[in-house]
Amino acid sequence: MAKVVLDGVVKRFGPVTAVHDLNIEIADREFVTLVGPSGCGKTTTLRMIAGLEKVSAGQIFFDDDPVGHLPADHRDIAMVFQSYALYPHMNVYDNIGFALRMMRVPRPEIERRVNWAAEMLGIAELLQRKPRQLSGGQRQRVALGRSVVREPACFLLDEPLSNLDAQLRVTMRGELKRLHLELRRTFIYVTHDQAEALTMSDRIAVISDGRLQQYGPPDEIYVLLGAGPRSALATPPRFRCGSGAGAKRVPRHPPRIHRRSRRRRRHCAARRAVDHRARLHPGTARFRSVPHPRHRRSASKSSRKSRSPGPRR
Ligand SMILES: Nc1ncnc2c1ncn2[C@@H]1O[C@H](COP(=O)(O)OP(=O)(O)OP(=O)(O)O)[C@@H](O)[C@H]1O
Ligand SMILES: [Mg+2]
Repeated sequence: MAKVVLDGVVKRFGPVTAVHDLNIEIADREFVTLVGPSGCGKTTTLRMIAGLEKVSAGQIFFDDDPVGHLPADHRDIAMVFQSYALYPHMNVYDNIGFALRMMRVPRPEIERRVNWAAEMLGIAELLQRKPRQLSGGQRQRVALGRSVVREPACFLLDEPLSNLDAQLRVTMRGELKRLHLELRRTFIYVTHDQAEALTMSDRIAVISDGRLQQYGPPDEIYVLLGAGPRSALATPPRFRCGSGAGAKRVPRHPPRIHRRSRRRRRHCAARRAVDHRARLHPGTARFRSVPHPRHRRSASKSSRKSRSPGPRR
C-alpha cells in the first residue's frame, strides 16, 4: 500500500530552486507520470520521494505518514535511475538479484525472480555479462529488472525507456503497464515522451520550471496555445486532447492547396507521353522536348536547344 502525497514541497540547491511548492497526491496503485522539459525538476522530485534528497520545505507523506526522517532504504520503494547505477563488478544476474540477497530471500526464489525478470526484459542470454559488456539499452533493462524483482510498494522510474530503440520501447511500454496491473503497486514514472505518458498513465503531472502546470487523467491534459508558457512539454504535441476549456485541435500538417492550371496539366500530360514513348523505344527516341509553359514564350531558341535532351534527328 503506498499513497504518496507531496505537500508544498520545495527543493533548493543553493541559489537554484529546482522545485517550487509542489502539491501532488498519488493514490495507492496509481500510475502517475511526471512530464516536462529537461531541467524542470522531474528527477529531483523523484529523488526526494525516494529519500535521496532532503526537501528544503514542505513534506512528503506515504499513506498519511510523513517520511522526511526516513532514509531511502526504509521507504519500500525501488528506483530506476536515468543513469542505470549498476554495480560494475557484478554480472547481470548478481545485479538483478542483489537487493533480494540483501533481503535474505532464499536462493531458489532469487533464481526464479531473476529469470522471470530477465525473460520479460529480453536479457536472459546476458545474465553472465558485466555491465561494461552491455549496450546502453541492455544496461537500462538490467536496471529495470533490478527494481521489478523486489516488488516494492512504490516504483520510481526515471526515463527507464529512453535508451531503447523504438520497437523495444513500445514493447516495454506494454510490459510496464502489464506489470503495473499485475503487481498492483504505485508507479511514478518520469518521461519526456508524450505518447508514453498518454498511453500508460492513470494521471499525468505536467511540470514546467519546477512548478506543477496541470494534473489529471490523460484525456483531460491539454496544452493551452498562446497563453503563458507555450508548452510545458518538451516537444510540440502532435495532438491535443480533452474537452476542457482551451483544448484545441490542431491538424498535424496544414492542408495543402494543390491545384494545377489547365496549361500546366496539359504540359504534364505531354511530358508523361514523351517519357512513356521514350521508355518504349529507348534507342530511337526522337521526341520533341516539351518546354515548361512558363518558359515557352520567353525562352530564346538557343536556350531551348540547350534544354532539349539531345540533337534532333
Ligand atoms: N545537485 C544539484 N546541484 C545544483 N543544481 C541541481 C542539482 N541537481 C539538479 N539541479 C538543478 O535542478 C534543476 C532540475 O534538475 P533535474 O535533474 O531534476 O531536471 P530533470 O527535469 O530531471 O531534467 P532531465 O529531463 O534533463 O533529466 C536543474 O536546473 C538542475 O540544474
Ligand atoms: Mg532527469
